[in-house]
Parts: sequence; C-alpha cells; structure tokens
Amino acid sequence: MSQVGIEKIAFYTPQFVVDLTDIAARDGIDEQKFLTGIGQERFAMPPHDEDIVTMAANAAEAILEDADKTQINSVILATESGIDQSKSAAVYVHHLLELPHNCRAFEVKQACYSATAALKMACDEVALNPDKKVLVIASDIAHYALNTPAEATQGAAAVAMLVSATPTIASYQGKPGVYTSDVMDFWRPNQQSTPLVNGRLSTKIYLEACAAAWQDFAAQNAMAFADFDQFCYHLPFSKMANKAHQYLCRLNDVALDENKIHNAMIYNRIIGNCYTASLYLGLCSLLDFGADLDNQDVALMSYGSGCVGEFFHLRITEGYRAHLKTELHRALIANRKKLSLADYEAFWHRPDMTAASDFTNATQTQGHFRFAGVAAHQRMYARQ
Ligand code: HMG
Repeated sequence: MSQVGIEKIAFYTPQFVVDLTDIAARDGIDEQKFLTGIGQERFAMPPHDEDIVTMAANAAEAILEDADKTQINSVILATESGIDQSKSAAVYVHHLLELPHNCRAFEVKQACYSATAALKMACDEVALNPDKKVLVIASDIAHYALNTPAEATQGAAAVAMLVSATPTIASYQGKPGVYTSDVMDFWRPNQQSTPLVNGRLSTKIYLEACAAAWQDFAAQNAMAFADFDQFCYHLPFSKMANKAHQYLCRLNDVALDENKIHNAMIYNRIIGNCYTASLYLGLCSLLDFGADLDNQDVALMSYGSGCVGEFFHLRITEGYRAHLKTELHRALIANRKKLSLADYEAFWHRPDMTAASDFTNATQTQGHFRFAGVAAHQRMYARQ
C-alpha cells in the first residue's frame, strides 16, 4: 500500500458528565471499586437533543475545511447505537456537513470493532484513488441498564478521522491481524434499548481476541511486540487495557512497561466507554498527552463483542503535533457540567421512539448541531 492514513482527527463528547463517586455513594459501595478496580472516574451523558448523528457532525466539523469537502468521496459512519434500521446515520451527517452529492455515505456495525473496519476500508480506497479523501466517523452512546454492574461503564463520544494520501498524523503500516468468533458476551437485540451482557465472559473473550489477533498480525509482519513504542487498546474501561497489555506482554515474554499505555487512557477515564469510538478516543489521548511521538510505532488493538478483534500498526508522522486539535479537546473537557443523580436519571430515560411519532427536544446541548425532535416519524436536526 502506498502512504495512506490519518490526515486529521478530532473527537466530540457531550457537555454533561456523571461522577462515579456519586454512583458509589448512591449504591453504598467503596468508590475505589470504580476509581481503581475498573479505572474510571466519570462518564459523559448526552442530553436528549444529542445523538450519534449530532456527535458525529460536531466531531467532523472540527476537522473539515472547504477544500477537504470537495475531495471526500465517501463518508463511513461506524456505530452500534443506530437510529434507523434502514437509513444510515452517515446520510444525515453528510447533509449536516454540506458535503457534495458525488459522495457515497453508509453505516457499518460490529459492536465496538466497526470503526476499525471503516478505517481499513478508507485506507484501501485512498490507496486506489490517492486524489480522494474518506471521512471515517465513529460515534456511539454506551447506554447500559441502571443499577447493573455495567452502569459505571457508560459514556458517549464521536471521533472523526480524515483519511488521505497525505497522512500528516499517522500512516497505516503493514497488514492487520484479525480474529472472529461467534460468542454471546454482549449483544443488543432489536427490542432492547440497552445491551444484554455477560460481563465476566466479555473480559475473558476480550483477552482471547487480543492474543489471536496479535498472533495473526505477527504471522504476517516483521514487527516484534517489543518493537512498538506505544499501544492503544479498545477501552470499555481503562483497567481492561492494563489487563490486555499485561496479558500480551506475558505471551511475548516482554517486560511490562505501563508508560506504553498510560497516555492513551487519559480521556477514556473521564469520558467512559464510547464503544466503537473508544479505541480512537484512546488514540486522540495518546496524541494529545504523549511526549514527542514523531516516527513512533503504535500498535492498536480493536475489539468488538460478539466478537471481532483486529491488531494493526500506525506510524506517527514527523511534525504531527501541528495538525492536532488538542486545544479544542481540552476546552470540551474543561467546559463540562456535572449532573446531579436526579438529572442523570432524567437524561438516561431518552424519549421512547416506539411510542411517539412526534416530539420536540428542549435545547440542552451547546454543540453546533442538535437533534430537535421527531415529526411524522422523521428525525429533525438543526444547526445552532
Ligand atoms: P462487576 O462485576 O460489578 O465488578 O463489574 P467486579 O466485582 O468484577 O469488580 C471489578 C474490579 O474492581 C475487580 O478487579 C475487583 O477486584 C475490583 P479485577 O479482579 O477484575 O482485577 N474491586 C475493587 N478494587 C479496589 N477497591 C475496591 C474494589 N472492589 C472491587 N473496593 C464488569 C465489572 C466489567 C463485569 C462490568 O462493569 C460490566 O459488565 N461491564 C460491561 C461489559 C464490559 O465492559 N466488558 C469489557 C470487555 S467486552 C468489550 O470491551 C466490548 C464492549 O465495549 C462492547 C462492544 O464491543 O460493543 C463492552
């Protein structure tokens, strides 16, 4: 493959946040279970006038200039928080971003994995058509049932990546290692608004997928595990990445160095799981908080329950820092408001789409795009 990869990257996360110490106090449990046991501090909570479309449009708007728009030939939106069984969220986002009509737009799904498939498809497309760019957006709301073990691992965010033949952030290297196995660790049948989860099984299968995807990668590439400077893992909660990295270090007989995963986990600890956006929020975290990463080799381990895993390699481009959106990201985090437990539960109960063909959402988001409501079963979006 010729030089292709990520030219621009930015994330968006809602302005409202829940503190896990409040959840611990509500449940009468030691807050260290969350802070240390799963390694999470807070999770982002979208108001009713935000959804995967508005989060995706907000993330993408931050990286797109008019010149990019004329070159984009595909918008791929990865999500497992779908808003429609037929029409893709990518088409709504294409409209909100005022992208040209000679562009394809579609959605991909496989739990937390699908953005990785989208990124690979985008790189392959650009390798064939180097004068084109592909917009990949991962956007998800991790919405678990209240008062369950998974509740503390909620969160929401979108990450937008512009893939091109001028990858000023990171270039795709080598061949990915992949793994698929039919497992019921986490799934959400159509009639469910929250997933069904076998939490303990999911953490075991996650590790198995890491090992298998790594081994498939190692069989096809000359890189040894110890050759990587940094690692980004899918982050359902940050402790999962610690466990995965320990596991792969043991498997490869490599000394554990926590510094190789630390910076990739900073945003996720305070935003929470954002499913298929989670790995790429980790990449944003590494880029924003890492010391000089010029020419460093980064391993990424993508995992989506069900399950599919992929281990792949990005090389950070010299001078990448000049192309980051670090200030924007820091401002988003700094301007968040903490929700009371009562407000959190009110936000958690989103309008029941199966019961109402018409409703209006109050204005709560400060994002540039909002989900205004539904009229005659049609979702209405607005710019503000
Ligand atoms: P749980 O069962 O309530 O927690 O929920 P636990 O009892 O297993 O405790 C968690 C950890 O906290 C344990 O550490 C405890 O020892 C520790 P570990 O033994 O695992 O190292 N702990 C404490 N530490 C310090 N002080 C204390 C204390 N008390 C306990 N006082 C579970 C945990 C992950 C099962 C739950 O959050 C859950 O079901 N989450 C959702 C599923 C999930 O995130 N799975 C991860 C892998 S699957 C995946 O990543 C895919 C996914 O993103 C979905 C997709 O692909 O679409 C989820």
